[in-house]
Amino acid sequence: MAEAAHGGHEEHTDAVRDLSDSESISAAAPAEVGLRFEVDGEIATVTLNRPEKRNAQTFATWSALARMGETLPDRVRVVVIRGEGPSFSAGIDLRMFTPEGVPGQGSFATAAALDDGAFERRIAEAQRGFLWLRRPDIVSIAAVQGHAIGAGFQLALACDLRVVADDVQFCMKEPALGLVPDLTGTKPLADIVGVPRAIEMCLTARSVGAAEALQLGLAEMAVRREELDQAVQDLAAALLATDRAAATATKRLLQAAPGRTLEDQAAAERAEQAARIRALFASS
Ligand code: ACO
Repeated sequence: MAEAAHGGHEEHTDAVRDLSDSESISAAAPAEVGLRFEVDGEIATVTLNRPEKRNAQTFATWSALARMGETLPDRVRVVVIRGEGPSFSAGIDLRMFTPEGVPGQGSFATAAALDDGAFERRIAEAQRGFLWLRRPDIVSIAAVQGHAIGAGFQLALACDLRVVADDVQFCMKEPALGLVPDLTGTKPLADIVGVPRAIEMCLTARSVGAAEALQLGLAEMAVRREELDQAVQDLAAALLATDRAAATATKRLLQAAPGRTLEDQAAAERAEQAARIRALFASS
């Protein structure tokens, strides 16, 4: 039975505040920022739950995501990120571009007035909401239907794996709006599709559908819309069938592989395997 995990969040409920003279947004309770967080055994599910606004995201969304990462129960091994309604996420809340901004969170105009250090800290805080999804001891899966635009695309890219519905439309819209993608999405995008294709996709802001996403490696699996949740559950079950320590060590090795020489990677394999075999056979 799924349990709603609100425990560690309550003390932060009133902490979202006006940013006109500050750079940071403290984490609010998930429901207050349009998120749902549920834990069912070893699987945690984060649902973007503002379907009437196509799950548009704010700085408060990212602070709450970061808090979920910090307070993730130890037993969780798989984290699913999904969106309620027709779209996974239409990206950043466009009110950020207006003079009024998002109530309690300011606007890009107020952010522009921050000094360099404050600006840096504010973006770093937003990025924290995405970076924990790469932790080696968990596997993160984005279940993506409909539009995944800008911050929505980057949230999907922040996950280890992407399962998409046949109506998916990935679009990196930031450059078309005068911005850069800064929610940790540029590296996974370039790593997955290559720098030339990433340049073409980002600078044209074109949409990438399910067939192309599969072909480019942006999705591990594409299924019919009505099969998305089941496909993700099946994938999670298959991942959970593998020993946790072995899965963690293997993910750690694979993540580091592109940045290492063959010799260094071989040495890392030896070290991980020695630890594994000792752990498995120490007592026998
Ligand atoms: N921010 C705030 N509100 C949004 C956003 C958004 N990013 N996207 C959609 N909404 C709201 C709409 O204003 C509308 O609200 P209303 O019913 O009160 O008028 C509601 O969500 C539904 O939107 P529609 O446009 O009617 O939905 P539709 O399914 O036809 O289109 C689509 C979906 C294509 C995603 C469209 O809403 C859209 O283009 N949104 C903006 C996408 C965008 O430019 N995002 C920023 C990317 S850059 C970044 O993320 C850093």
